[in-house]
Amino acid sequence: MVLWKNYVRLYQLMNEHAPVKIDSLEDWTRTHDCGSLRIGDVGKEVLLMGWVNGRRDLGGLIFIDLRDREGITQIVFDPRESPESHEKAQILRNEWVVAVKGQVSRRLEGQENRNLLTGEIELKARELKLLNKTETPPFQVDGIVDAAETLRLKYRYLELRRPRVFDLFRQRHRIATTIRSYLNERGFVEVETPFLTKSTPEGARDYLVPSRVNRGMFYALPQSPQLFKQILMIAGFDRYYQIVRCFRDEDLRADRQPEFTQVDLEMSFSDEEQVMALFEGMMATLFKQILGLPIETPLPRLTYYEAMERYGTDRPDIRFGMTIQDISTFATQSAFKVFHRAMDDGGLVAAIVVREGTGSFSRKALDELAGTIAPSGAKGLAWIKITEDGWQSPIAKFFAPEVQTSLSEFLHTKPGDLVLIVADQPSVVRESLGKLRLEVAKMMNIVEDDSHALVWVTRFPLFEYDETEKRLAAVHHPFTAPLEEDLALLKSHPENARSRAYDLVLDGAEIGGGSVRIHNIEVQEEIFSILGISPEEADAKFGFFLEALRYGAPPHAGMALGFDRLVALLCGVKSIREVIAFPKTTSATCPLTDAPSPVDEKQLEELGLALESGPWE
Ligand code: AMO
Ligand code: AMP
Repeated sequence: MVLWKNYVRLYQLMNEHAPVKIDSLEDWTRTHDCGSLRIGDVGKEVLLMGWVNGRRDLGGLIFIDLRDREGITQIVFDPRESPESHEKAQILRNEWVVAVKGQVSRRLEGQENRNLLTGEIELKARELKLLNKTETPPFQVDGIVDAAETLRLKYRYLELRRPRVFDLFRQRHRIATTIRSYLNERGFVEVETPFLTKSTPEGARDYLVPSRVNRGMFYALPQSPQLFKQILMIAGFDRYYQIVRCFRDEDLRADRQPEFTQVDLEMSFSDEEQVMALFEGMMATLFKQILGLPIETPLPRLTYYEAMERYGTDRPDIRFGMTIQDISTFATQSAFKVFHRAMDDGGLVAAIVVREGTGSFSRKALDELAGTIAPSGAKGLAWIKITEDGWQSPIAKFFAPEVQTSLSEFLHTKPGDLVLIVADQPSVVRESLGKLRLEVAKMMNIVEDDSHALVWVTRFPLFEYDETEKRLAAVHHPFTAPLEEDLALLKSHPENARSRAYDLVLDGAEIGGGSVRIHNIEVQEEIFSILGISPEEADAKFGFFLEALRYGAPPHAGMALGFDRLVALLCGVKSIREVIAFPKTTSATCPLTDAPSPVDEKQLEELGLALESGPWE
């Protein structure tokens, strides 16, 4: 037996290296794709083309799984029916490209494959053409166990060959098409804006492009088309959109890429209500057409402060409750020093209630939970297990029975519930409990995979304090209008002013953001001065835009959706890299093309550039 196997392997090796004759297509035309034949097609003469997904040689019969982007069809080579094609099929290897003519037939009873849509039929081959062969692929295209990401990205075309991967791109295309028709029907015009441009202020670093013709000068790749779309409003274009690439040199994560796509939009003579209604309609259309799910509109709204207070984040996942509750008044009635100290330092004591959570968390699990919030600055995690006999908790002894009862009543606890408490500065408490909420929901599988929730977060602060720069910075971007009622605060307490910005959040991810813009030059100049941008600096950076604002700018508002994030969420995949054909790694490299890469000395010379040393490893 062993000998026979060796003999077969030797034969295969000889074949692998034997010269193989490649056939030309000639007049062969495909009749079907590899995913479409069904029982109703039995008896038809068809012609399929694709890649060999697998080959089984059963001595007499050879079976090939033929794959294209639509699916897999089983082909049978029977020496009695077509000795020539059976002979040829013996040398086929995975990923060779072939064309097969034959007849669709019903599979033998018991041989059906329920995992394939074509699983009830097979193609009895009459003729086979070999269209191309392949090097041995670095990983199995149809592999169950996956290769490391760098290898998959280097050979991304092999990974993209998988029908289930292609499906994500078909879905991405459908989502883009749905969005385009929705906006086209409402009078929006798609306009392209420059990629070689000046820096736009979205808050990340710019990618710079040196100019050869204007030596020593640089273009910046746009972080978004923000200023151009506003200028289009000044130009009277009224309703603009663009599905557009944006470039940001920032630290990357699963949901961030250095170049990503936005559905960017701007509308004249409108405010937040019209923009929000437009996007709600777009979301309802997408959910209906892509997921077959209804969405109730208007969508819920939370102000930034409400979101931070209840969910500890400005991108709340509202698919479940477990909201943060301020229990400071009860904490002050306790004898627990930690709580008193936090309150004395201007802090907060707050809790979340995990319904029926006691069983799910051992002491060890609770210690681990405490560990997950340490990076947020939390110094501890207090917990109370509510039992039929009252509290079971390391801090029970610090609470008099009547305080225990009133706190339990306040939190509406029932036996079986678990209360998690953090005491610290308000920002630490909110961030920690916000994280715990998500962590606990994940551990307890509280959120069903196919449930979704959209929510608007509005009225963000206009400014935030930048610790490194020691000055105020725009939370959204400096063209965002302040709330009318907070205009007076710009002079007295700008840090308290709120903006007319809004974010759209889906299942805890920020999928879009926008604002009503400043169309009044005086307000714009005041914002720049609060941001510490001198008139000269403003003029150098955005002079063209400030000038345009002086020429009859209409009131306008807009928004941009993170298209990759939206697609990833609608497709139910974890990382936006899965829905980008050629994504970059987390260190912003492209293993396929090896970008970024060193350039010729001559190219640098032409650009008037010199490297200090390097290129660096
Ligand atoms: P903002 O900066 O909020 O707004 O961007 C809009 C949306 O784009 C997505 N996004 C990203 N997606 C992938 N990778 C990234 N690096 C990345 N950065 C942002 C997010 C985000 O919500 N000009 C304004 C919009 C406007 O005011 O109209 C802007 O760009 O989902
Ligand atoms: P100790 O008395 O120090 O053992 O603390 C009793 C409980 O309080 C432990 O479960 C600690 O994790 C928790 N604890 C300590 N500091 C804090 C804090 N800042 N907020 C919430 N719980 C805390």
